Amino acid sequence: MPQLKAHLKINKNFCIEEKPGDTILVVFGASGDLTERKIIPALFNLYQKKLLPKKFFVLACARTKLDDISFRDQIKSSLMQTNYQGTQDVLTVFCNLFFYLSGDYHDPRTYADLSLLLDKTGKKNCNLLFYLATPPVVYDPIVENLGKAGLVKDCHEGIFYPRVVVEKPFGHDLSSALELNAKLRDILAERQIYRIDHYLGKETVQNILMFRFANTIFEPVWNRQYIDHVQITVAEDIGVGHRAGYYDKAGHLRDIFQNHMFEMMALVAMEPPASFEADRIRDQKTEFFRSIRPVQLTDIVRAQYKEGIIKNTVVPSYRQEQGVPPDSVTETFVAAKLWVDSWRWHDVPFFLKTGKRLAKGFSEIAIKFKHVPHSIFGPIHSVDMPSNELVFNVQPNEGIALTIQAKYPGPKLCMSTLTMDLFYKDVMETEMPSPYERLLIDCMLGDQTLFIRQDEIELEWGLVDPILKSWELEPSVRELKFYPAGSWGPAEADELIGSEGRCWHRQN
Ligand SMILES: NC(=O)c1ccc[n+]([C@@H]2O[C@H](COP(=O)([O-])OP(=O)(O)OC[C@H]3O[C@@H](n4cnc5c(N)ncnc54)[C@H](OP(=O)(O)O)[C@@H]3O)[C@@H](O)[C@H]2O)c1
Repeated sequence: MPQLKAHLKINKNFCIEEKPGDTILVVFGASGDLTERKIIPALFNLYQKKLLPKKFFVLACARTKLDDISFRDQIKSSLMQTNYQGTQDVLTVFCNLFFYLSGDYHDPRTYADLSLLLDKTGKKNCNLLFYLATPPVVYDPIVENLGKAGLVKDCHEGIFYPRVVVEKPFGHDLSSALELNAKLRDILAERQIYRIDHYLGKETVQNILMFRFANTIFEPVWNRQYIDHVQITVAEDIGVGHRAGYYDKAGHLRDIFQNHMFEMMALVAMEPPASFEADRIRDQKTEFFRSIRPVQLTDIVRAQYKEGIIKNTVVPSYRQEQGVPPDSVTETFVAAKLWVDSWRWHDVPFFLKTGKRLAKGFSEIAIKFKHVPHSIFGPIHSVDMPSNELVFNVQPNEGIALTIQAKYPGPKLCMSTLTMDLFYKDVMETEMPSPYERLLIDCMLGDQTLFIRQDEIELEWGLVDPILKSWELEPSVRELKFYPAGSWGPAEADELIGSEGRCWHRQN
């Protein structure tokens, strides 16, 4: 297929990057994987870009016994294993922003020590950010103890107020999400709670809003009249890795579908918000979730990977992975057909597909437009002409691709499909920031636009909960399909989309 390389002229019309007010970040679970691989590298990038506030400290808390010096040494050696090319001095200055506190999350003395440390670092006129980077079992005791220690009191005035960042998973079904929300809301105001879905920090995902609402040419065709269907794919070629303990209990529907997939779907399909304010956008997302029709069990396929070949290497089946029970019935793949009951999307199917150990790792949103209503190019019929496609490439090569039909030079009638690919990395002449950079800065700024509101998360769980319950109660509907690792999923997923006369966008 001929590729058209885009030549872009970029004028930065309008560009805001606010620097947040002075901040103290308290990370619980600071000895863990998320802190090491995501939070600290993101903070280091922000530090190098001079985007951190003038006064900024991190109080790292965990049960592991360490002191400031040994924790700083750990961070330093971990950052040196990334492709950092700068000087040791810069690393040292950055690592000196970290202080370490060890303690039990259930013990009030931990919070008394924390309070003393916060006083010592001078918390007055600072944003206090508490990041829960621990397993979810301790979210509740941490917040309760922060409340008892008077550390998360909302002052209801001024720009400095304590905030709590809550990692996913937020609950494991509707009732546990309701319970966690109730516990958090007992102690915190909604404006203090930052429920993270790191997909919302990805540039392409954020760009969906600008693409739709900063251009006039797309919104008029963004509806059932012009769009045939929408496909959202989150495909991983990796297996369960070291996460079997959590993943085997959760399954893929909870791990990816309930959050990342629904969030991307909402941004693509919600109505225009009145403004780019957090609650105006989140109002429209919740309204959209209300319009998703309850998913029919016949419209969802659950499957698990068997042994297969990926990148010329034989990889084991899910049941053979370390930490997975040999008789596990946990799904590693979900495909579903969803309908949206609204004027805009009536009769437009949304196909969502996500799985582990698939042929390629990528995430994308593909908007498939309708065929032209009539062909003037006989003998080609309108249904034989490929329809236009617009694809948001979410990862790994973030960008946008638009396909159009065009005349191929030469013969009198020779139609070809051109793809206009805009890879952000190539055309924007800037490094793509990690999602955690954007999200951490937004927490410091008090901007909740990219975070999930209480009603939003409850509506998402409300859509997934009946499926989970049916899978638990009725083994016949829970029936697990299998697919070889390195394939595009089970045949039943192809049948699901095939039954609507469509096929998956990228399966080659
Ligand atoms: N890792 C990721 O890429 C990732 C991505 C998305 C979301 N998340 C979420 O982020 C959170 C942290 O993830 P993680 O991968 O960093 O987890 P982790 O490494 O398993 O745990 C983080 C730290 O929490 C402490 N911890 C472990 N079990 C505990 C328990 N039962 N009670 C109290 N403390 C305990 C441990 O530190 P001490 O023993 O020193 O206290 C551990 O170093 C989780 O909720 C996870 O689902 C992680």
